[in-house]
Amino acid sequence: MHVLVTGGAGYIGSHTVLELLSNGHTVAVVDNFDNSKPESLRRVAELTGKSAAVHRVDLLDESALMAAFEAERPDAVIHFAGLKAVGESNAIPLRYYHNNITGTLELLRVMEAVDCRTLVFSSSATVYGALAVAPINESSPLSGTNPYARTKLFLEDILRDVAAANATWRFGLLRYFNPVGAHPSGRIGEDPNGIPNNLLPFISQVAVGRLDELKVYGNDYPTADGTGVRDYIHVVDLARGHLRCLEHLDRLGDEAGCRVWNLGTGKGLSVIDMIRSFEQASGVDIPHRFVDRRPGDVAISFADPTKAREELGWVAENTVDSMCADSWNWQSSNPEGYPAEPA
Ligand code: NAD
Ligand code: UFG
Repeated sequence: MHVLVTGGAGYIGSHTVLELLSNGHTVAVVDNFDNSKPESLRRVAELTGKSAAVHRVDLLDESALMAAFEAERPDAVIHFAGLKAVGESNAIPLRYYHNNITGTLELLRVMEAVDCRTLVFSSSATVYGALAVAPINESSPLSGTNPYARTKLFLEDILRDVAAANATWRFGLLRYFNPVGAHPSGRIGEDPNGIPNNLLPFISQVAVGRLDELKVYGNDYPTADGTGVRDYIHVVDLARGHLRCLEHLDRLGDEAGCRVWNLGTGKGLSVIDMIRSFEQASGVDIPHRFVDRRPGDVAISFADPTKAREELGWVAENTVDSMCADSWNWQSSNPEGYPAEPA
């Protein structure tokens, strides 16, 4: 299959491009490099011996996007491109709505124009908001608690409407739980701009000496050790879930419509569990201190991944030990992330 991957230079995108190329697909990437560097894709080429075509294009630039689609004529699209920082989305909501929602509307218009009607969409467990009770299945109640989450909720609804109006569209909505880890080679991984918001990149940067200590947000949650519980999933497992989803949409043909799957392990781990596993994997102590809860955080979130197992034939295979070992391998061999691009 020829797959066009939006946001393919980013964290999850680059791992997915690698899996696609390793499994006999050809790939074109559309990315504006707003939150990534072309180096990730150079390294994917080095690891696979195959290259993706790269289009430096913003989804909001409809004519450039159309030119990329006319050049590539993809069979399907995997759509990662979007802004993803919850705190930033509260500060600059218009930028989030414009980039994520208008960007996706432009993408759908261009796809329709070139008659490419299969799309796998990066949704998020954030759509379950504060209402769902773990283990969270796909029928759990949905609620958006911040502008980022609402971009995912609105886009899910938009895709459902488009599929309901025309049965030739095939949409797979993948609700990811907490992606962590890196490719076992240590050549590609997560390279956040500035101080990381998420737990594992923060721990990794403490381990490598870029940050002094981890602040643990709350130790008074109703959990075994009082810290927040999440479903951490290895990014390589997550990437493979996208291939299983594409294959499933292809099998279903015009029966596909718009379908949704959780991608998680089904296991909840606390912040303290993650600190301990990371210390064991790296041999480095992680200094940490308990502070107040972070506003908006829920106590416990983990997936019921049964539907993905039964329908996509997908299960997460990596353990927390390999998530931490691979994060450490990436961070310790690339302490400053990807090198800066020449001006
Ligand atoms: P990322 O920031 O590493 O990758 C996103 C990529 O999209 C970047 O390369 C960025 O430059 C590109 N991009 C953004 N806006 C664009 C635009 N208008 N035009 C072209 N390219 C654009 O993020 P990621 O962690 O790989 O996440 C990928 C997707 O998965 C996002 O949609 C995110 O919301 C979703 N998601 C991520 C997580 C997570 O914790 N990482 C969890 C759930 C869902
Ligand atoms: N945490 C800390 N200290 C930190 C960072 C995080 O104690 O410096 C704690 C949080 O309080 C939480 C856990 O670590 O209990 C995980 O926090 P993350 O920020 O890594 O992840 P979240 O579950 O808050 O959210 C992430 C993404 C969202 C996405 C969600 C579900 O940031 O965008 O996973 O996919 F929606």
